[in-house]
Amino acid sequence: MNNHREKTTYDRSGTAQRGSTERRKNTAGRGSTACRRSTVLRGSTLLLGGLLAMGLMCGCGNKAVTQSASAIAQADTSRTICPDYAEVTPKYVFMYAENQPADYPTSLGAFRFAYLVHERSEGKIQIRVYTDSELGDETDLYRELQYGGVDFMRASLTGLTQFDEEANVLVMPYLYESSEHMWKVLDGEIGQEIMDSFEGTGMVPLSWYDAGVRNFYMREEASTLEDFAGKSIRIQDSAMMKDVITLLGAQYVVLEYDEVFSALQLGRVDGAENNYSSYESMGHNEVAPYYIEDEHTRIPELQLVSQATYDRLSDEEKEIIRECAKESALYERQLWAEREEFSKNAILQEGGTIVKLTDEERAKFQEAVQPVYELYVGNYMDLIERIRAEAQETD
Ligand code: GCU
Repeated sequence: MNNHREKTTYDRSGTAQRGSTERRKNTAGRGSTACRRSTVLRGSTLLLGGLLAMGLMCGCGNKAVTQSASAIAQADTSRTICPDYAEVTPKYVFMYAENQPADYPTSLGAFRFAYLVHERSEGKIQIRVYTDSELGDETDLYRELQYGGVDFMRASLTGLTQFDEEANVLVMPYLYESSEHMWKVLDGEIGQEIMDSFEGTGMVPLSWYDAGVRNFYMREEASTLEDFAGKSIRIQDSAMMKDVITLLGAQYVVLEYDEVFSALQLGRVDGAENNYSSYESMGHNEVAPYYIEDEHTRIPELQLVSQATYDRLSDEEKEIIRECAKESALYERQLWAEREEFSKNAILQEGGTIVKLTDEERAKFQEAVQPVYELYVGNYMDLIERIRAEAQETD
């Protein structure tokens, strides 16, 4: 059976087309080319962003920044420009940073967003989407976004909690009962309250993107909490996740996303944790074939615009950005479901093992990490209770 190689392809506006192209994995996570490229770019964008922050480019603003930077990195504009307005000289050219490969749901959502914005602004707003961490690693980009060195980015909520403590309520371990439960929370009042709590951070949340459920994976077989004892596990840079790993009896190692493949391959870490799509897309399944379905977190992702960029827009332009971000998010959510299925199949087809935990075993993991609730969301337990209550209403 080879049907997992039957792959969805996408036309220039990001619309899904069924096809049977050969599945091509992202290589950025494994080799060093992308990393080297991003180092060069990071320096350039930092410098350009710095100039902007000092006001040396007043009058030209981000447009000048974007054009100089794009001379270094060529974004693929074929999916982000609406042909009807291809000849229009844009009023703004913005940069959008994405750390996933170009065929990943969040990247396709970004292409769709940029295309819609270009179309609805009748060519006035052009957004160049840079995938594969081409503009730098996720953790470096937060600062750039804050001063407008990068205009837009899609980020995992984990790292953003350092700027907004309240956002921790959405990333707590073993909190949601299902994807429906999480979406009920994000689409409702709580999701909006957390977006509003970013006020003053220099980042403006636009829409929630799906990133499924995160599980642990290991180079060696593991199926009980005891098997985690003393193991080194890669995590995102998050104080809460450091404690989670320690409470599970393991040791944490903080690494950037594009460093994980080689760390696993070389045995610098015994395991890591991520959703099915990232695990498969980055080829981690090839070097850590035991995927343990403990479903410890569901980490939503945010599409963000820099406050500095947002403030330069007219009300009408702001409305276009908000509307297109929401539409692109619905699209991404649909792609996410497809990609997750595809990845689950691919993991098995490629010889991986999906380890199911017994309810009893999963309860041990859950119990072990309980102290992080008091430590990280002790002041927001009312919100946690409201999130839990949404689960009852979902049933
Ligand atoms: C997910 C997420 C990325 C993040 C990564 C990580 O794949 O989409 O934005 O960088 O997790 O674990 O670092």
